[in-house]
Formats: sequence, structure tokens, C-alpha cells
Amino acid sequence: MRGKFITIEGTEGVGKTTNIKFIQDWMDSKKLTYGCTREPGGTPLAEQVRELLLAPREESVCNTAELLMVFAARAQHLNQVIEPMLGEGAWVLCDRFTDATYAYQGAGRHMRDDLIRDLELMVQGSLQPDLTLILDIPVQIGLARASERSTPDRFEQEQVAFFERVRNRYLQIAQDNPQRCVVIDASLTLEGVQAQITQTLETFWETV
Ligand code: TMP
Repeated sequence: MRGKFITIEGTEGVGKTTNIKFIQDWMDSKKLTYGCTREPGGTPLAEQVRELLLAPREESVCNTAELLMVFAARAQHLNQVIEPMLGEGAWVLCDRFTDATYAYQGAGRHMRDDLIRDLELMVQGSLQPDLTLILDIPVQIGLARASERSTPDRFEQEQVAFFERVRNRYLQIAQDNPQRCVVIDASLTLEGVQAQITQTLETFWETV
């Protein structure tokens, strides 16, 4: 049987890293074979594209170049990692996927959805995640958390209004895809957040 494809999304500082570890523990408890990966990245080549995308630079990056780099990395990642694993029956847990492109390049950068849709079809055909957890938190709280961690990358240098558009688009995606997406209130305590995640995963498990 084909594996399940689970993605995790959210704006900066929502706590993806901590909660991905928690989801891995849940997968271990179910004795699943799985791989944990991320976008942009997940293969040596795609990780190089990630570095190019995230590095702050003086040259302004044109939106089309940014969009094509995101999908170039995704094509490689799908071909080398995600598709082979799912085909072998393993589950794949991915830190961000194409919802991030609609949120960051679509809403954040004001790129046209139909252009993104064309690239999505070219790169992934009909492949979609089976379950997407969208960690949601007010933008200012997330940015404050993220700024404590490290020097900001090229995306983290964006203004609050950019992240408000990203957040709103994620919430819209969740509304438009209720069968696939679950919004997790990430402003609660860690226990509160993880209780929501457990419930979501157990509900999904019943459908597998
Ligand atoms: P993160 O994995 O540490 O959150 O960093 C990845 C950054 O890349 C994040 O700021 C969002 C951005 N990104 C896009 O702009 N478009 C995409 O399609 C993906 C997957 C990520």
C-alpha cells in the first residue's frame, strides 16, 4: 500500500520544529516506516537551492526567479525522495510543501495563483498531501519568537504586512480544503498544541 503524505505549515515562529519531533514520536508509537524531510530542500541539490533562496543578498530577487527556484527544488525532492518513499509504502512527513508557495509567493509576493497552479501541475501532477497541519499564531507573536532564534533569513526580513498576507492565505487554504487541512491553534501552551495534534493524527489514523 502507498504511504501517506503529511505536511506541516505555518508562518515564522509557529513551532514547526518542536511539533515535527512530536509527530515523529507519534509515528514511532504506531511503528510506521517513515521519512522526515523539508522544503525547500530534502536532497543535496534541493538543499543548495534552499541556500540560494534563503540567503539575504543585496541583489533583489525577481518574483518569477524565486517561484521557479521553489518549484525546481520541489521537482527534485519529489523525484528523488517523496515519490520513491510513498511508492515503497513509507509515510512522508514534510516541513512545508506547495501550500507554502501559495501563501508566500502567491499571497506574500502577489504572484498569480494560475501561474502557481500551472507549475504545481507540471511538477507534481495530481499528487497532494493526505493531511496538512497548519500551525496558526498571530504574526507578531511568531516573529518575536523567530527573532530570538537566529539572524533573519531573506524571508524573515519581510515586513509584518507580508506575514499577515501569508497567514491569511493559510487560513483560506484550510477553509477551501477541509478534507485535507486542519488548523492548529499554536498560541496555546505546548501541551495544548500537542493535544490538538494528537487528536488530529488519531482521527486521520482511523481513516487509514
Ligand atoms: P523554514 O523551513 O525554516 O520555515 O524556511 C523556509 C522558508 O522558505 C520560509 O520562510 C518559507 C519559504 N518558502 C517559500 O517561500 N515558498 C515555498 O514554497 C516554501 C516551501 C518555503
